[in-house]
Amino acid sequence: MTHWFLSFFYSQWFITPPYPTESWAGKTVIVTGANVGLGLEAARHFARLGAAKVIIASRNAQKAETAKKSIEQTTKCGSDIVEAWPLDLCSYESVKAFAERCNGLQRIDAIVENAGVSTRQFRMAEEDETIITTNVVCTFLLALLVLPKLKETAKRFNTRPNLVIVSSEVHFITNFPEYGMTPPGESVFKTLSDPKKARMNDRYNVSKMLEVLVCREIVATRAPKGYPVTINFLNPGFCHSELMREMGLPGRVLKFLMHARSTEVGSRTLVSAASMGHESHGEYLSDCEVCPPAKLVRSPLGKEMQVCVWKDLSEKLDRIQPGILDNF
Ligand SMILES: NC(=O)c1ccc[n+]([C@@H]2O[C@H](COP(=O)([O-])OP(=O)(O)OC[C@H]3O[C@@H](n4cnc5c(N)ncnc54)[C@H](OP(=O)(O)O)[C@@H]3O)[C@@H](O)[C@H]2O)c1
Repeated sequence: MTHWFLSFFYSQWFITPPYPTESWAGKTVIVTGANVGLGLEAARHFARLGAAKVIIASRNAQKAETAKKSIEQTTKCGSDIVEAWPLDLCSYESVKAFAERCNGLQRIDAIVENAGVSTRQFRMAEEDETIITTNVVCTFLLALLVLPKLKETAKRFNTRPNLVIVSSEVHFITNFPEYGMTPPGESVFKTLSDPKKARMNDRYNVSKMLEVLVCREIVATRAPKGYPVTINFLNPGFCHSELMREMGLPGRVLKFLMHARSTEVGSRTLVSAASMGHESHGEYLSDCEVCPPAKLVRSPLGKEMQVCVWKDLSEKLDRIQPGILDNF
């Protein structure tokens, strides 16, 4: 933990991710949660870098329209590049409808699954607690639903599209005790949706841990080396955004002390992950470089958790959309 904190501190104070310059000409990119924060700034970069189509996915049509106009004004990309599509990651039907629309696209060169939520309130959305539904279940539901289009793009245009999950270094600071609290044979998602067992002060960290575990297991078992799509997951660093909207003054103090990155600077890490090739497949990226994830993730216990969490999640996804596992 001390080692992690020192490297976190060093990264916050002394590392600035490079300004993206690679062309996105002719490409189509989707960014979820792109009406504010890191998603909005990443979408702005893609538009500036010449993408043919930038789809900003948002649960709020008005905020999405404002974001679209802001990108168009600042990048002068024209009015037919940025499209605002509705997506609510608290609703399976909304995710399915969004994915269906994605299937109508000519190509998808990258999808940056950035939307995420952090809250101390225990609330249910669909079958699970809201953070778990948003950051994990619906994030991977969408990932699996768009995979066929990413693979089709790879084949048709002889490219290597990217599926990017915006995770976080906070996966280093949880031991994921809900894993041990789950009786053998029961789903860890059942434990996580029990309000009596909920530890909401650690829930966001656990959700980011689950993202890391699931990505690693998917790549280990379903999308091994040679898979036509790059799947990676990243840490943007501690950044200014609306993520800590519930925290008020303590959040602002923490951002000051930890030299929080501007939203634009943090968003560079999203663009970088979406631009990386096979060297980043199945890898955790921090400061735009492949880095080892938390020690727990790399331990034998982490491997066991990874297998178990994916088993529980894949069964859930197959119930939500029967046959979805054939999409790999
Ligand atoms: N900021 C940081 O320091 C930091 C550090 C590490 C990782 N991250 C990760 O970076 C990603 C982006 O966060 P951010 O910092 O940019 O936070 P943010 O400013 O709060 O943006 C989060 C975005 O996700 C959207 N979202 C939340 N719940 C949603 C739902 N149910 N359906 C659709 N969209 C939903 C939000 O929409 P609304 O505006 O409608 O709420 C917003 O567009 C998250 O995955 C976060 O975990 C951030």
